[in-house]
Amino acid sequence: MQKLRSIVWERPFAKIIDQTKLPNELEFKYLRSLEDYEEAIVQMRVRGAPLIGVTAAYGMATVAIEAAERQDIDFKDAISVAAERLKKTRPTAINLFKAIDRVISAIQEAETPGEAARLAEAEAKRIDREEVEMCEAMAANGLKVLKDRMRVLTICNTGFLATSGIGTALGVIYRGFEAGKIDFVYACETRPVLQGARLTMWELLQAGIPSALITDNTAGLLMAKGLVDGVFVGADRIAANGDTANKIGTLTLAVLAKHFGIPFYVVAPSSSIDPSIPDGNSIPIEERPPDEVLDIRGCRIAPRGANALNFAFDVTPSELITGIITERGIIQPNEISRLF
Ligand code: MRU
Repeated sequence: MQKLRSIVWERPFAKIIDQTKLPNELEFKYLRSLEDYEEAIVQMRVRGAPLIGVTAAYGMATVAIEAAERQDIDFKDAISVAAERLKKTRPTAINLFKAIDRVISAIQEAETPGEAARLAEAEAKRIDREEVEMCEAMAANGLKVLKDRMRVLTICNTGFLATSGIGTALGVIYRGFEAGKIDFVYACETRPVLQGARLTMWELLQAGIPSALITDNTAGLLMAKGLVDGVFVGADRIAANGDTANKIGTLTLAVLAKHFGIPFYVVAPSSSIDPSIPDGNSIPIEERPPDEVLDIRGCRIAPRGANALNFAFDVTPSELITGIITERGIIQPNEISRLF
C-alpha cells in the first residue's frame, strides 16, 4: 500500500516530500543544512509529531557529519547550536525534543568528531526505524478495538506523511480497512493548514479507501445522525495523566464523541508521550501566524485589517479519551506510568 516514504536518508542529507506542495504536486526536497531543516519544520514541509522528530534527528546527523569534516568548525559548538535552534522550530510535539536529546546522548562517549558523527547518524536511523516499527505495532493493536464495518472519523493527517512508517491513527485505519473492519472514513479538512483535505484525502485516495472530506464543523451533524462509529486521532504530546495535545479541533471532536457515546481513541507511539509533565496545562501550545487563518492558499478571505487567532493545537482531557493505542498495547489514559 505505502510505496512512498515521507523522509529518506541519503547520507549526508535527508530527502523529504515537500508537504506544502501536496496534493497538487509531489515534490521532493533535499535538506542540506541546519537552515534547511529549520525551515522545513517551521514551514511545515514536514509535519506530524513523529516525522518532526525523525527530521530533527537527521538534521543533527547532517550537522555532525559536516562539522566532523571541517577544520574551521568547532564540533561541540556546532552540535549545541543545532540542538538549540532545532528545538525552537515547533514547541508542541514532544518527539522533536526527545529525538534531539537522544542524538546528543548517543554521541556523549565519542572520542573524536568522526566517531561522534557516525554515532549521530546511527542514532537518527534508529529513531527512524523505531517509528516505522511502532506504526506497525500500533496498527496491529488498533485492530483489537475495531468492530465490523466501521465508519470512522479522523482529523489532520496521521498517515505515512506524518511519520516515517504507515502512520498512527491512519495506520490503524489502513490495517483496519485491509482487515475488512473499516468501511468508510470521514476526514475533517483541518483548518487552517488543511492537512485533512490536502494530505489525508490524498493518502486515502491512493489507498482506495472509501472516504469523504468534511468541513470541520460537520462532525457534530454526522455523529447526531448516527453515521460515526469511532473517532481515531493522533497526538503531539501526551502528559502523564493522559491529557493529549493534538491538532486544533480534536477537543471539539472528543466532546462531541462523549456526548453521542462514540468511542474516541488516541493512537500514538511512546515517543509522543511526555511523562515529565503532570497534565495538559503544562503542554506548550504553538501559535502560528494569523495569515494562515486570514488567507486560504494565498487568497485573502477576511477584510484587510482583520485580526485572527491561530492556535495550532488543543488539549483533550483524559476523561474524554476511551483508550490510547500505543505500540505496547492499548492503555487507559491513567495508565501512562505503566509504560515508563
Ligand atoms: O501541525 P501538524 O500538521 O504537525 O499537526 C499534526 C497533528 O496534529 C497530528 O495529529 C499529530 O502530529 C499526530 S500524527 C502522527
